Amino acid sequence: MCLTIPAKILEIDKEKAIIESVNERKKINISVVKDLKIGDWVLYIANFAVKKINKKDAKEIINLLQPYKEIDISKLDSKFKRILEQARIRNLTKDEIIFLLKIKDPIEKEVLFSEANIIRQTHLKDFICIHGIIEFSNFCENDCFYCGLQKKNQELKRYRMNIDEIVKVADKAVNEKGYKLLVLQSGEDYFYTDDMLSEIIKKIKKKCRTFLFMSIGERSHECYKRMKQAGCDGVLFRFETSNPKLFKKLHPKGKDFKKRFELLKFMRKLNYFIATGSIIGLPGQSIEDLADDILIMKKWANMISMGPFVSSDNTPLAKHSSGDPEMNLKMIAILRFLMPDTRIPVVTSLETLLGEGGRKKALQAGANSLMFNLTPPKYRSLYKIYPDKFFQKEEKWEKYGLFKYEESYKMLEERMRKELEKNHAKD
Ligand code: 5AD
Repeated sequence: MCLTIPAKILEIDKEKAIIESVNERKKINISVVKDLKIGDWVLYIANFAVKKINKKDAKEIINLLQPYKEIDISKLDSKFKRILEQARIRNLTKDEIIFLLKIKDPIEKEVLFSEANIIRQTHLKDFICIHGIIEFSNFCENDCFYCGLQKKNQELKRYRMNIDEIVKVADKAVNEKGYKLLVLQSGEDYFYTDDMLSEIIKKIKKKCRTFLFMSIGERSHECYKRMKQAGCDGVLFRFETSNPKLFKKLHPKGKDFKKRFELLKFMRKLNYFIATGSIIGLPGQSIEDLADDILIMKKWANMISMGPFVSSDNTPLAKHSSGDPEMNLKMIAILRFLMPDTRIPVVTSLETLLGEGGRKKALQAGANSLMFNLTPPKYRSLYKIYPDKFFQKEEKWEKYGLFKYEESYKMLEERMRKELEKNHAKD
């Protein structure tokens, strides 16, 4: 589940080797990887080499996970420097967050991102976690103004995967490829009854050693209770915006801002691992709203899930321009200050707006995980929340970032447990 920074072998002494990566030089155990020689490149977790890697691919990973560079900050604005210093030692106030969200100077922006990247590296080393998402139905009962899956969109061809199909995709992802955290997502589709959802979860958890998250919208308390009993570990459930008025405007079908938080509260009570967040750059949203979004994420999220608004055809917001991806990068950086060891994924909407180099930019601004699309190709283009969704072949990263290796299961389990423990302090 983790892409790690590669290291070069400097010395070998039987089962031990001295390795050197960009960040450290240390002695590791190489007994699980056969035929290693001095000068080879390896991926390692804790003190164990787990995979040999060719030099070209090693360089590519190093390039993706590039360490921070030193930047001379002596000439920067003193208020900016003071806030950045505060960010390292205590939580930021709303005004300080707004100040950081507003910075325009290119060097200040670079410093903000690189500071966040340092914090990521200090707290999480160079582990970039890889998660998978299966979009199993694009039917939706709602008409959220921003979303291309909305019921009113008659142009979209709809699909549903049946239970066996869903379980088969999950099985392949976990047992063949090595995914350890899967998200099952759909529109709000009541075709899948509570019984069916429970059955899907039970079947997947029986076959697969994986963390399983559901992302199916506002279902009943009973439904969330049953899914938890069936073995579901987490939910991906965004609050979308912290501004109640804007929330009301964008959700015409009786969706209620307060109810959303009541549901989040209930999910927390059930001990779900909560991935939540907002859409950045919605028409009518202010910088103050974004600062509130950050503070709410800090309160509710065990994992962040936020992304820029991407203008979508056949929706009431089709004519509005998309959000500013750079604002999203700033939010990643600020959240990295506030939540140093929390999972912040690079989401598809951000990659869609930033294109090829977007993933690297987000990781360098403090993000630490990737979400790969595992939806079968025949359905993929129909899950059209917005058009031109970013997609690239991820085989290489799957090959180097997914190990079926006891140590990496344990690490993930330990991290998830620790993250949930923090909830006591948040209530
Ligand atoms: N742009 C960006 N994100 C969107 N979502 C829905 N529509 C859009 C859009 N046009 C997000 C919502 C939802 C998640 C599944 O997708 O935040 O919770």
